[in-house]
Amino acid sequence: MQIAPDSPKLAVVMVGLPARGKSYTARRVERYLSWLGYYTRVFNVGEYRRARFGARVPHSFFDPDNRPGEEARRLAAVAALEDMVTWLTDNGQVAIYDATNTTRARRAMVHERCERAGFQVLFIEIHCDDLDIIEANIRSTKLSSPDYADVDPDDAAADFRARIAHYQRAYQPLGEDEGASLRVAGTGHAVTVSNVDGYLGARLVFFLMNLHLTDRPIWLTRHGESTYNATGLLGGDPDLTPAGHRYARSLAEFLDRRVPDRDGVAIWTSSLRRAVDTATPFGRTPWAWRALDEINAGICDGMSYAQIQEQLPEEYDARKRDKFTYRYPRGESYQDIILRLDPVVIELERTRKPVLVIAHNAVLRALYAYFCGVPRERCPHLPIPLHTVIELTPHAYGCHETRTSLEPLLASGEAL
Ligand code: F6P
Repeated sequence: MQIAPDSPKLAVVMVGLPARGKSYTARRVERYLSWLGYYTRVFNVGEYRRARFGARVPHSFFDPDNRPGEEARRLAAVAALEDMVTWLTDNGQVAIYDATNTTRARRAMVHERCERAGFQVLFIEIHCDDLDIIEANIRSTKLSSPDYADVDPDDAAADFRARIAHYQRAYQPLGEDEGASLRVAGTGHAVTVSNVDGYLGARLVFFLMNLHLTDRPIWLTRHGESTYNATGLLGGDPDLTPAGHRYARSLAEFLDRRVPDRDGVAIWTSSLRRAVDTATPFGRTPWAWRALDEINAGICDGMSYAQIQEQLPEEYDARKRDKFTYRYPRGESYQDIILRLDPVVIELERTRKPVLVIAHNAVLRALYAYFCGVPRERCPHLPIPLHTVIELTPHAYGCHETRTSLEPLLASGEAL
């Protein structure tokens, strides 16, 4: 995506003590902005430190009074910073500098270097005092890091707590005079904004306000088979076939088995008949989003792929060449779909209940790409078969996926 010509490239600089969720937040921001089309990359200073000085260093390496340790960490920070500046100067649009950056001096160095290169700087400080969350972060992420390969988990956790204590002694909370910042307390409940301007900064405020760490499933499914699926036609607003109605019933049974309390699940559909009708057996009105409607095939709506190839060969070939950016005349491209799905993604992030999304081939490919971190250009080729429920459970560093086919044999063939 183009950053407006008059707006500078953005360096997001993470701030906070270890095990507060900085890397988690950095990667989530990277995934979200990449999906929206910004060329985004995380620069993790810990990786530079490991590459230069080895993974297995004791906690005393991080003691602010340990001069050689301090110097080694500064060198790793500078190397990551210089790579980041080079990358942003070349083609990068948004870089995320993932380090503790706990002292004013370190932040001033990063800020000054980025400003000198012409980049806008946005600090994101993650603050968390909840000892249970910190301990859970240590256990779930730090112990599996290369820093503690083959170390007894309790010894590793004790060493990491000692490392945190070193940082705590040197920590200087971010001040308002240090520049634009977002301060996230807890797991995204409260975001304090200071001096932020520009479109991207505002989008990140909105995104981070809605992030949470509750593990809950999101089910993605296409509507039941439609009369257009059965005859190989694109788009339209057709009815379900008998097989499609059967799928709707199987889907309701599937969900009842997974979540016996039906009200515990949010049901979202597109505004198209085949999706809304697939939700009928749930016995309540779903939330019907226009944003979840299938890709608008414009002048090709209601045609089959074979008809397009025969009657509009140039369009057929152009789509084949670049299915991601191709826009149907008077219709949409996959790129367009991602933009209209942005509010759906934010709402999915915000919702803490399990959600069932009943939608369509192209829009589900785009949603799947977001949650599973698939490069957006690949989303037009992802398989999202009919009569299959894709269960995604987002967690700290990715997404767990299972697929359940509810009706292996369709009454008729379907166009893919
Ligand atoms: O064939 C079903 C369908 O949902 C069509 O309505 C839509 O045009 C198509 O899938 C999208 O898939 P593709 O981008 O692969 O053509």
